[in-house]
Amino acid sequence: MTVTVSTLQKLKDEHKKFATITAYDASFARIFDDAGIYAILIGDSLGMTIKGESSTLGVTIDEMAYHTRCVARGVSNALILADMPFMSYANTEDACRNAHKLMAAGANVVKLEGGSFLSDTIRTLVQNGIPVCGHLGLTPQSVNVFGGFKIQGRDDESRKRIVAECLAVEEAGASMLVIEGVPKDTGREVTEALRIPVIGIGAGNDTDGQILVMHDALGLTAGHTPKFARNFLAETGDVTLAVKKYISEVEQGIYPDDAHSYLK
Ligand code: KIV
Repeated sequence: MTVTVSTLQKLKDEHKKFATITAYDASFARIFDDAGIYAILIGDSLGMTIKGESSTLGVTIDEMAYHTRCVARGVSNALILADMPFMSYANTEDACRNAHKLMAAGANVVKLEGGSFLSDTIRTLVQNGIPVCGHLGLTPQSVNVFGGFKIQGRDDESRKRIVAECLAVEEAGASMLVIEGVPKDTGREVTEALRIPVIGIGAGNDTDGQILVMHDALGLTAGHTPKFARNFLAETGDVTLAVKKYISEVEQGIYPDDAHSYLK
């Protein structure tokens, strides 16, 4: 079954949870697709996982388009999301030109980090036939503004601001939203406030969907391992079985449990 933005919306409407994952090449994309993953994100996390850099800031639109093309060749069913890299959507014109490169490379949806300041950009992309996934919470492209990879939405004011920004992204026309690095309660509040599907990473198990960087799901992460990461490969001994276990535990609401969530 080909997954579209409507498929994910239907899952949310029916209160069914779904799993998504990152990939950067055709081989892993094919394995994840065959295992039944709903969506594959070509994340700008490739700055760290593929290029070995310390942040996502050095990733270019041409690198994103190259990896999107690789992943698209391995996918038959999953929805393909591609990240707009740092400073590639600083104005609406750049956003349209660069989103076009990712769509031409095989993306079905582009993902942008930020809130209400992107409203005009999101509206213009959608009007031009480009579906948008928002991304709020701990947005890695703002690491220098945050002063590090810090969990967001921990106090009342910050939680309310995040919910308001998520609503602005929905209002502008986004089809879905990733919420990253927030306490479980904030993840739940965003998910309940929004009509569109909310996909969490480090946001507890009350979100509609989950996403993991494939390296975190397969125990390949170098250096710091985030609290929500879980090595499904070590538990199963096989990449296909690992991703099937991840999918099944997300769908049942077993993963992430409280040990893999930020509780405050
Ligand atoms: O770049 C990425 O892999 C991401 C996920 C962490 C959601 O944006």
